[in-house]
Amino acid sequence: MKYQVIYTSSTGNTEKMAKAMFAAIPGLDKDIVRFEEGMLPEDADIYFIGFGIHKGTCSMQLLDFMSELHHKKIILFGTCGLGSDEEYYKCLEDDVKAWIADDSECIGCFMCQGKMPISVRNKYMDMMGQGNDEKIEKMIRNFDKAMTHPDESDLRNAVAFVEGMIRKLE
Ligand SMILES: Cc1cc2nc3c(=O)[nH]c(=O)nc-3n(C[C@H](O)[C@H](O)[C@H](O)COP(=O)(O)O)c2cc1C
Repeated sequence: MKYQVIYTSSTGNTEKMAKAMFAAIPGLDKDIVRFEEGMLPEDADIYFIGFGIHKGTCSMQLLDFMSELHHKKIILFGTCGLGSDEEYYKCLEDDVKAWIADDSECIGCFMCQGKMPISVRNKYMDMMGQGNDEKIEKMIRNFDKAMTHPDESDLRNAVAFVEGMIRKLE
């Protein structure tokens, strides 16, 4: 079975996950490529497809690519600003999954929190004092919590997820 990891990552969070997950795939019949770098092999059997969430989902180009990938098993992974919220992760997964071609199959998804640029926190600060302070304070607390992610524990969980997927497939 040939494994292909394809990822997109604007600030490096998902890239970190992608590299750890790639290393956890056993054997030599595997490859990893950054989506923006062009050559996207279509001859693998299993695709790990990773993305950072921006404005609610992943890039349109990646969704388009996924929709053109036929007769494959696809495993999604990604990072997003919000941490430890399985319900939110499931919504993100379902939105992305909807783009997968009918003759391909999504067999798993792993999401975790990723740090955000300081400009996001500054924007929250600017929003304070306009009647939504409780909500904004919660968003700032989440921002601060995200600062260390993906951390070693996230990477270990990602590796364990890959190992579980491989066991299921073999
Ligand atoms: C402009 C921008 C928009 C974002 N939009 C969302 C969002 O809609 N939902 C979310 O959970 N996280 C959002 N985030 C946080 C990113 O998903 C998070 O930082 C992620 O780890 C980025 O991954 P990457 O570096 O691999 O692209 C956003 C971050 C930025 C900078």
